[in-house]
Amino acid sequence: MRGHFVGKGRVLITVMLTLLFFVAGMSEASAQGQELFETNCKSCHHPDKKVIGPKLRGTKAQWEEATGDASLIYTWVRNWEDAVAVSPYAATVAAKEGSAMKAFPSLTDADIDAIFDYVDNYVEPSGDEGGSGGGAGGTEGEEEGGMSYWWFILGGVLLVVIFAAAGVRRQLRQVQKVQTGEDDGQKETYGDILKAWAKENQGLTAAIGVVALFSLLVVSYGWLKGIGVYEDYNPPQPVSAFSHNIHAEINGIDCQYCHNSASDSKHAGIPTMNVCMNCHRSIEGASEEGKKSVEYLREMAGFDGVEYTGESQAIAWNRVYVLPDHVYFNHSQHVNVGGLECQNCHGPVEKMTTARIAKASELKPVGDIPENQLTRPTLTMGWCIECHNNTAVAVGADLDQDPGKVSYYEEIHRRLKKRSDIYKKYLDDEKITVRELGGWECAKCHY
Ligand code: HEC
Ligand code: HEC
Ligand code: HEC
Ligand code: HEC
Ligand code: HEC
Ligand code: HEC
Repeated sequence: MRGHFVGKGRVLITVMLTLLFFVAGMSEASAQGQELFETNCKSCHHPDKKVIGPKLRGTKAQWEEATGDASLIYTWVRNWEDAVAVSPYAATVAAKEGSAMKAFPSLTDADIDAIFDYVDNYVEPSGDEGGSGGGAGGTEGEEEGGMSYWWFILGGVLLVVIFAAAGVRRQLRQVQKVQTGEDDGQKETYGDILKAWAKENQGLTAAIGVVALFSLLVVSYGWLKGIGVYEDYNPPQPVSAFSHNIHAEINGIDCQYCHNSASDSKHAGIPTMNVCMNCHRSIEGASEEGKKSVEYLREMAGFDGVEYTGESQAIAWNRVYVLPDHVYFNHSQHVNVGGLECQNCHGPVEKMTTARIAKASELKPVGDIPENQLTRPTLTMGWCIECHNNTAVAVGADLDQDPGKVSYYEEIHRRLKKRSDIYKKYLDDEKITVRELGGWECAKCHY
């Protein structure tokens, strides 16, 4: 009888160890997928957000379902044009976006599987880049994020095993009791067993308690800290020597020469190669690294020093400022209509090399908000609404200087003043804030 139960215990332990190795193996594979994703795809893709290319989670299954061909996506990743040539589905995907994907001829099927495994099981780490975090320690955080999924599964499996083992023990004791005639008819519950065990092993119980409490603290601290913290994020860029300081400050180039759609569209825009080559056909760069970077730039533009060869490739700049998909933000509303400066939201970019998300304390004060008075981290919802609460719309601007620009608000202001009894709450402080005109309405910022 006893031998039978011990045998069962062994089986359980074997199963557990096998699972442990399996999980360790999966983590290994997912770490490889992560590395491949980060070196090849991350500059344009995120598992859950649109970057330059679409979000990638679930695309492998989607492609297989839509085309019935499991290998088409490998063709796409190795050379998307080959896939377009054979599949109308691939052609629609390629036509949907403005920009094009790169080719990765050296990736094997196994590599691509590893990438999609990683993407499909991706867990947003706290304090990571892009959507949810600061740049420092990004890679470490990600590693933990990718792994933690498996730790949860492993934890669950262990729990099941522990309970199963306890169940075996319980039955074993019951049998023993019956055999020795001690049976009092009462069944032992799991709780009783746990209590008895804790009593026998007080030191160990205390240690487990301390570890559990400590882990809880660490996890919740990381979670709280991770919320909405994007500040200081400064991803590496493909043209490493590119410097805002050299261009915008030392050479006095206007921000909107390069980000030329900020004043009349939703996006400020990242300059295309043509914009750079306007100057860099002739300007070679000063520093050693700068010269190398300009050379790389020309190579990507397909410029051989005399003429264009026609073989150009886009530079995949890494996005710095990204809001989640559910938020609507419009540059022209702020830059053109609101009359704000770039530095009000992006800080002293002209002192930076590559762009970095400025801390709220670095932002140029707006209107009535004194220096260092913004209390919420840049890019969080609190940041948007704090500014909307404190900033007056420019109702009093000089219409002679800027005809037509703010007449809409002039008119509102005029009407409000006429009915000052009703609109007292708007007028009591002699200003109309963005909030009072609807800048706190959820639907203005959320789709
Ligand atoms: C230079 C930017 C860039 C890089 C790097 C890049 N992609 Fe793409 N990818 C795109 C764009 C843009 C699209 C949208 C389709 C198009 O316009 O060609 C896309 C589309 C895709 C699609 C189809 C998505 C859908 O909605 O069906 C898959 C799958 C994909 N990419 C996988 C990858 C993988 C895997 C890597 C890394 C090995 C990678 N991409 C690297 C830009 C890129
Ligand atoms: C309006 C002209 C202009 C445009 C447009 C322009 N640059 Fe420059 N760039 C300059 C000047 C001027 C310098 C300084 C050269 C010097 O000091 O010898 C420079 C320097 C550089 C350097 C070298 C820095 C160093 O350390 O020597 C790099 C790299 C560079 N630019 C990249 C770019 C990229 C990438 C773009 C497009 C996004 C771009 N530039 C667009 C004018 C321009
Ligand atoms: C009211 C705050 C605000 C002002 C003013 C502002 N920006 Fe932005 N900027 C943002 C936010 C928020 C994002 C992220 C948008 C997103 O993810 O949809 C952003 C994104 C960007 C991007 C990334 C690409 C893009 O188009 O989304 C660039 C480049 C940029 N801003 C440049 C500028 C320049 C240049 C100016 C001044 C002419 C400026 N911004 C003024 C808040 C601002
Ligand atoms: C010579 C062209 C050039 C000029 C001038 C320039 N930028 Fe940029 N900007 C770039 C390039 C290239 C990038 C992408 C690389 C990077 O992130 O630094 C960029 C990135 C940015 C970003 C981050 C975009 C993102 O991915 O979210 C912001 C914000 C920005 N610039 C603001 C400004 C402001 C403000 C000024 C004026 C003080 C300015 N830029 C002047 C070329 C330029
Ligand atoms: C530095 C101050 C400032 C910050 C930060 C800011 N805004 Fe604004 N916002 C303004 C001003 C000023 C206006 C009014 C423009 C005008 O005159 O219509 C405005 C207007 C708007 C409007 C139009 C409101 C309406 O009633 O039509 C939307 C939507 C908006 N902002 C979204 C955002 C989002 C989303 C963010 C954060 C990502 C943000 N803003 C951050 C200053 C700011
Ligand atoms: C001025 C613009 C603005 C307004 C108004 C606004 N939001 Fe947001 N909201 C944002 C931005 C920006 C984010 C993204 C913040 C982030 O990623 O940390 C956000 C995020 C959220 C989130 C996701 C949680 C989070 O922190 O990421 C929820 C839920 C939300 N908003 C609900 C609302 C509701 C409900 C209202 C109306 C009472 C509202 N929002 C009004 C800009 C706004």
